[in-house]
Amino acid sequence: MTLSPDVFRDVMGRLAGGVTVVTARDGEGVPRGFTATAVCSVSLSPPLVLVCVANGSQTLSAIRDTGWYALNFLSSDGARHSDRFAVSGEGKFDSVDWVPAPAGSPLLAGAVAWVECETQRAVEAGDHTIFIGRVADGGVERAEAGPLVHYGSAYHVLERADP
Ligand SMILES: Cc1cc2nc3c(=O)[nH]c(=O)nc-3n(C[C@H](O)[C@H](O)[C@H](O)COP(=O)(O)O)c2cc1C
Repeated sequence: MTLSPDVFRDVMGRLAGGVTVVTARDGEGVPRGFTATAVCSVSLSPPLVLVCVANGSQTLSAIRDTGWYALNFLSSDGARHSDRFAVSGEGKFDSVDWVPAPAGSPLLAGAVAWVECETQRAVEAGDHTIFIGRVADGGVERAEAGPLVHYGSAYHVLERADP
């Protein structure tokens, strides 16, 4: 049996994901970024993370240009950021507050936490490229804020579930 792309998307949409915005500077220093849930912690020592980037993404070439990128973990009030960065095109950073991380990747104001990474490996995988990055720096900015969660094509906020 072959799973259709629609069913595959529907099934994988039931894997709840924390919403991030992946940011980078292109070769000219212009900030780029896109919304991503295909993000994962990989290794503690050394600290490694991964992000799966669609090969058509404009941010992908920026990550390739410099080798650096940041993951911004959105807070429960970050759905507007998520929608803004989930479209391709120029001007996504217009009227968005951000500061540069130590290596220059944009850090979005209001995010719960961030890491800045240097690409260690880029692995071709189907229509995506998996960037495995060594975490050079990071921080929690809003420990009290809850995360933005994506599940079943909609945004959710987290509720504590006691056993
Ligand atoms: C909730 C959500 C999660 C997404 N996750 C990913 C992802 O993990 N990887 C990816 O390449 N695109 C993902 N996307 C799609 C990109 O955000 C979208 O294609 C964006 O336009 C790419 O921008 P760019 O071309 O400027 O890089 C996601 C979109 C949404 C709304």
